Amino acid sequence: MARKRLVLKNTALFSDPANLSWERYVVMQARERERYLAERATIPDDALNYKTVSPRYLHQAVDQFANNYYSELSATHYVATAAANAPFDELKKSALFQLADEQRHLEMDREVFERAGIPERDWLAAWESPGTTCRFFRHLLELEDSIEILVKGNFVAEGAAGPGTFTVLADGAEARGDVLSAVNHRARIRDETRHISYGRALVKALIEDDPANLDTIQAWQDESLRLFAEVARGGERQAWWEGFLASYYKIAVPMGLRPTVF
Ligand SMILES: [Fe+2]
Ligand SMILES: [Fe+2]
Repeated sequence: MARKRLVLKNTALFSDPANLSWERYVVMQARERERYLAERATIPDDALNYKTVSPRYLHQAVDQFANNYYSELSATHYVATAAANAPFDELKKSALFQLADEQRHLEMDREVFERAGIPERDWLAAWESPGTTCRFFRHLLELEDSIEILVKGNFVAEGAAGPGTFTVLADGAEARGDVLSAVNHRARIRDETRHISYGRALVKALIEDDPANLDTIQAWQDESLRLFAEVARGGERQAWWEGFLASYYKIAVPMGLRPTVF
């Protein structure tokens, strides 16, 4: 069955909420980088090299490291596809800035794996094991349509994994002595918030353009959240999952979307 495609007929309905130009983007990211490096500089060497966490923590955290690293790695691919196929320039611009952000996140997460001493041959296996975000991101990587990618990736997935869950992850890591992960999660929240807001602007524009688009967006939401649901299976990540859904519904319900039935 051919995938349903949405077209924004009146492209003037979408504009980048962050109002970025190349100039502004570079200045903003230079400031972010300074802030990140200053926070990272406060981490004692022992903590930075994972000498202060328990072996048990590291063993259990590998799945989480893989969820972080591979979702960022996936983002550098699917956002590149969204930029390449963008139906109009304003959307392409937002996607291109996001692509650069995701590359920074990817490098932060690679450093976590490396400093924690997890051999690279174990990374992918951890992500492919049950209970990770792998199924959702593999689905996203198969898509070619920019609008479907950005609605699912930015509005649904990032909207859900937004401020709420990154805070849970940061606090959880910090409480167990994993300060680098905590600093990384807090640094990424600011970029992810920007990705969510343009995803949201896109969804809003699509519904304004044609209210019938809401049905397709609902179907994309249901498809996405069901692929994510396995992360919470077994109840281990219950706090994460609840924060995930709560963050997402906070932006989705006001748009007229209904909670997904699992
Ligand atoms: Fe990211
Ligand atoms: Fe992002």
